[in-house]
Amino acid sequence: MDKFVIQGGGRLKGEVEISGSKNAALPILAAALLGEGTSVLNGVPDLADVRHMVDLLGDLGAEVSRGDDGRMEISVTDESHSHAEYDRVRKMRASICVLGPLLARRGKARVAMPGGCAIGSRPINLHLRGLRALGAKIDLDGGDVIATADRLRGSSIFLGGPFGSTVLGTANVMSAATLAQGTTVIESAACEPEIVDLANFLTRMGAKIRGAGSPRLVIEGVEALNAAEHTVVPDRIEAGTFMIAAALTNGEVTLRNCCTDHMMAVVDKLREVGVIVEQTNGAAVASSVRRLEPADVTTQPYPGFPTDLQAQLMTLLTLADGNSAITEKVFPDRFMHVAELLRMGADIRKEGPTAIVTGVRQLVGAPVMASDLRASAALVLAGLVARGQTTIQRVYHIDRGYERIELKLRSLGANIERVSD
Ligand code: EPU
Repeated sequence: MDKFVIQGGGRLKGEVEISGSKNAALPILAAALLGEGTSVLNGVPDLADVRHMVDLLGDLGAEVSRGDDGRMEISVTDESHSHAEYDRVRKMRASICVLGPLLARRGKARVAMPGGCAIGSRPINLHLRGLRALGAKIDLDGGDVIATADRLRGSSIFLGGPFGSTVLGTANVMSAATLAQGTTVIESAACEPEIVDLANFLTRMGAKIRGAGSPRLVIEGVEALNAAEHTVVPDRIEAGTFMIAAALTNGEVTLRNCCTDHMMAVVDKLREVGVIVEQTNGAAVASSVRRLEPADVTTQPYPGFPTDLQAQLMTLLTLADGNSAITEKVFPDRFMHVAELLRMGADIRKEGPTAIVTGVRQLVGAPVMASDLRASAALVLAGLVARGQTTIQRVYHIDRGYERIELKLRSLGANIERVSD
C-alpha cells in the first residue's frame, strides 16, 4: 500500500493543468451503454474510479480502449450480461449509474446495492423511486436490485429527498428517460455541471433533453440513441483543491483548463477569506499573501458550496485568524478528516453536522490516515503547510479521484513523495 511523505513549508508556484471531471466522466461512461456504435470521450481522467468503471463496462459487454490525453473509445459488442456484481460495486459506489442505462436499453438490469461508506449512509431509494415512476418493476434479491421493464413510459417525477436533489439519481433517471415512450418531467433534478455535461453527451447521442442545469428537466423519449463524441468538463473539485493549496502556502498557482463559471460559490468563499482569485480565458490564478480571515460555510447542492470541497476548506480555515463554522447539509456525517486534523494541531469542535474551527498559528506534521477521497485531499493540503513531516497512509483513497496529484504538486514546488510499502 502506498503512502505520501510530505515535508511542509514551501510556497507553491507555477502552472497546473486541471483534469477532466471524475464525477462527470463516470455517469457519461455508463451512458455510453445506451448508444449504438463507438462513442469517443476526450478528457477522461486516469483514475482508479475510472478504471473500475471501465472494468464494469467490460463485464457488461463493452470494449473500451484508452488512447493518449484522456481519449477513450467505447463500443458495446455484447448485450447479454446485465449484472453489475457486488465485487465491482463495493469498490466504487458510482457503479450504480449503470442501472438506468442498462434498464432503458436492455429492459433489465441487476445491480448490487451499494452499501454505506466513510462519508455516511448512501441510500438509493430516490433512484429506485424515479425508475419505478417510469414503469420499471423493481425487486431485491441477494443484495441486488433487479429492475425490469418492456419499455419505460414517460412520467412526472419529483426527485427531491431529505438532503435536496440527488446527483447520480438524476443521472440514472434522466438516462433511462431518454429511451422511454413519451415525455418525462423530473422536478427537483440535480443542477450540478456534471449533470449538464451528461445531458450534453446524451443530446449528442440523439436524446431530447431540455432544462439541464435547472431543477426541472423535460425529456422526450426517442426510439434509439447513437454513439457520440464528447469532451468531459474540467474537474471543479480538483481546481478548488489546487486553489486552496495555493492559498495555504501563500503561493501563486495558475490553473489551466479551469471553468470558474462552475465554481462561483467556491471562488466567492475563497475571496471572503482573503484568497485572491483572478480569472482569465479558460484559466484562473489563485494566490494569497497574508493570514486569512475566518468564514462560515454551509455545504449545499449546486450552485451552493460543494460538499466535495468541505474537508479541503476546513484545512484552510484551521489557519484563519478566528472562528469559522462549517455546516454539512449534504452528508451530515462527512467529518472523518476532523480527528486526523486534530492530530496535526488543528483546533476543531464538532457539534452535530457543524464543525467549529478555531484558527491556530501553525499545523504540525504527523502520521495520519486517509479515510476517504476528499478527507485525504484535506490531509495532503495540511501536510503541505505543516511544520515538519506528514505521512499519509492509505493514499489509494486519493488515487480514486485525483490524477497524479503528487506529480502535479511537485511541479509546483511541493516536497511530496509516494512511497510503496
Ligand atoms: N440521497 C438519498 N436517497 C438517494 C440518493 C441520495 O437520500 O436515493 C441523499 C444522500 O444520502 C445525500 C444526498 O441525498 O445525503 C445527496 O446525495 P447524492 O445522491 O447527490 O450523491 P451521489 O450522487 O451518490 C455524487 C458524487 C459525490 C458527491 C455527491 C454530492 C459522483 C460519482 N459522486 O454522489 O462525490 O459528494 O454527488 O454532490 O458523482 C466525491 O467525488 O468525493 C463524491 C463523494
